[in-house]
Amino acid sequence: MRSINVGLLGLGTVGQALTQLITQSQPTIRVVKALVRHPIRARGVAVRVTTDPDEIVRDPEIDVVVDVMGGQHPAMEILSAAFQHGKDVVTANKEVMTYYGPALQALARQHNRLLLYEASVAGGMPIIDAITHHLSVVPIDRIEGVLNGTCNFILSHMEEGHDYLEALHEAQRLGYAEQNPEADVEGYDTARKLVLLARIGFHTEIPAEFSAITGITGVTGHDVARLASLGCGVRLVGRALCQDQGISLSVAPTVYRQGHPFLRLQGPQNAVQVTSAVGHFLFEGPGAGGLATATSVLSDILRIRQLVPDREPNPMISLTFNEPETPAICFPLDPETPLPQVLPDELRRTSSYAILSCQLPRELAKLWGLRQYAWGEEEGPTIR
Ligand code: NAP
Ligand code: HSE
Repeated sequence: MRSINVGLLGLGTVGQALTQLITQSQPTIRVVKALVRHPIRARGVAVRVTTDPDEIVRDPEIDVVVDVMGGQHPAMEILSAAFQHGKDVVTANKEVMTYYGPALQALARQHNRLLLYEASVAGGMPIIDAITHHLSVVPIDRIEGVLNGTCNFILSHMEEGHDYLEALHEAQRLGYAEQNPEADVEGYDTARKLVLLARIGFHTEIPAEFSAITGITGVTGHDVARLASLGCGVRLVGRALCQDQGISLSVAPTVYRQGHPFLRLQGPQNAVQVTSAVGHFLFEGPGAGGLATATSVLSDILRIRQLVPDREPNPMISLTFNEPETPAICFPLDPETPLPQVLPDELRRTSSYAILSCQLPRELAKLWGLRQYAWGEEEGPTIR
């Protein structure tokens, strides 16, 4: 079997877990060296480190460059140079893939190289492979999922009575959160993963950014407790719809009744539901964490050895972005204050919450002093 020499960009949570996994299980793969920012920093693995990207991309010994450093820059420039120097690339970096994925794929093709990125969405879950090579054989209508392990960790811990910040710090300590955790809790990380899934699922170009993104920073312990008393819970859900009118993408804290598969997710677990004419497919697995993510990276490295050909993108279809039309459940911003009287009478409401037939534009919700959660199921909770 052909041996593979790997050059790492990054030797943090994922880079170290990958090195350990390779050392323990892959006698024909060798981690040659790793690019880092702080060469003096103590690491749990013995790998030569460098601060010069050229030492990776120009090293004739290295076959595959693995990006586990994150961020758009200098990742994009280093990956471009890697293709120019004849390397294949594996990346866990959803940010660079969201903003530069199409350009990097084109460069890879131009240099007859491969760019694989399974680990960039849902950590250890092989969802990119499943959608690319299996599910998108028939048109996909809908992709929705819990795509951020940090947010799921925080929300599931808040259900157990933990404080938001305490849960966030624990997620950081366990290596789930991004370097800047704002990307997690403000919903941007979920949005990026959703864009990547929608591109492959709907076979179309989708811009890197869209506006309907709400994170979990507004979810209070009070709301989580009130939802629990209604037999409900909340998860941060990314939803991509492909309909006759176009494609719509949204990220929002979404309420489900107890028993819904998304509410069963604890800690950094992720889940993705893909809907097509064939039916619903539900995937669940660890969405963050060193070992889980390293498994997906290693699987891509092994796939490169098998030289799986890349697929040409299908023609573009029209694209419009709409405000999501899902129903919503609203709470007053101040838990002690009743709902504002300006709400239309036809809304189903109690003094402490209201159910709307569709989500309000964000500006209006803000004006009326409402915190709004998307409602993820057909029927709302019973009004008492
Ligand atoms: P991390 O622990 O913060 O490690 C990042 C590594 O990259 C560090 O070794 C850092 O060097 C190095 N690095 C960052 N910027 C650099 C620069 N400009 N030049 C040189 N080296 C640089 O991050 P991580 O959690 O391993 O995540 C890495 C990537 O995997 C990210 O794209 C992340 O989104 C993705 N990912 C992470 C997970 C997860 O659960 N952690 C899951 C899926 C995907 P120093 O150590 O010297 O600072
Ligand atoms: N910060 C990310 C998360 C890492 O919490 O899901 C995995 O992509």
